[in-house]
Amino acid sequence: MATFSPPFRRKSPYMPFGDQRNAPFYGRDILSVKQFKRSDLEYIFGVAHEMREMVERVGSFDLLKGKILANLFYEPSTRTSSSFTSAMERLGGSVIPINEVRYSSVSKGESLPDTIRTLECYADVIVLRHPEVGASALAAQYARKPIINAGDGVGEHPTQALLDLFTIFSELGQMDGITVTMLGDLKYGRTVHSLARLLSLYDVRLNYVSPDILRMPPEIIQELGDKSIPQAEFDALEPVLPQSDVLYVTRVQKERFEDQQVYESVKGAFIITPETMHNAKERMIVMHPLPRVGEIHMDVDADPRAAYFRQMEYGLYVRMALLAMVLGKA
Ligand code: NCD
Repeated sequence: MATFSPPFRRKSPYMPFGDQRNAPFYGRDILSVKQFKRSDLEYIFGVAHEMREMVERVGSFDLLKGKILANLFYEPSTRTSSSFTSAMERLGGSVIPINEVRYSSVSKGESLPDTIRTLECYADVIVLRHPEVGASALAAQYARKPIINAGDGVGEHPTQALLDLFTIFSELGQMDGITVTMLGDLKYGRTVHSLARLLSLYDVRLNYVSPDILRMPPEIIQELGDKSIPQAEFDALEPVLPQSDVLYVTRVQKERFEDQQVYESVKGAFIITPETMHNAKERMIVMHPLPRVGEIHMDVDADPRAAYFRQMEYGLYVRMALLAMVLGKA
């Protein structure tokens, strides 16, 4: 009689061929920036650079033909979800978009593990955004296919941090020796949590500028302190702007506040205007994960140092690289 064994907990597409098993990141989850070493980043950025050249040369190509991505978003998204869709489609693959879980069985009360086990029957990789910290790690425990964390509440946003770093590399040409100033909601902003951790692989200096109630979480400051990264906290931008090579601006995360009056009291704390830019280095770049809701005045957009729109484009190449890597094609 035939016996059936449970599906293996092997994180890999089910039909390995050639030597793709040896490809770095093949079948792996991307859950936190803590999983990366400097050499991993060099590899990812090398692949992202190749993706950029291919997109510029031919637009789309068939590296992931026949592969399917499930985009599962329990929180709103414009950039992350559409850049993963674009990345998959430019690589010749296709996408199951679940951008509005209200219309899926989640609204009937289905658990995250069950939704994940459903989607992996149909897809080769799952991109997940969820309001709870640790949701991607939970999903990954149940999934046989790779899970990519596209933001878990106030936790992490590793693919954003990778694209942020790729932006800095591409724009400034170096990482060691730079000063990065993070501004805004450092408490609830998951992008700065991931970015600070990723930057700690380099010889950088970090400044944190925020209202007192939105300071960088102490556990992250401690984590980086243990790695001897110079860090300093401020409640004004003026003292640190002239020394900054990167100004990373964030939105105050309205949806994370229990008391909307508290949000109102801090939402306009910092606004970057053309006047602000007078005191910045000529080669500084201004970054923002977007969306912006007033923190950077639109008159700054014409300044060549405004890198936030270019940053979105770098994101496409990084996400193409990540998809190709976890599916064993890079
Ligand atoms: C960020 C996010 O979702 O954390 N957006 C993004 O992915 N580009 C930043 C934000 O929402 O403020």
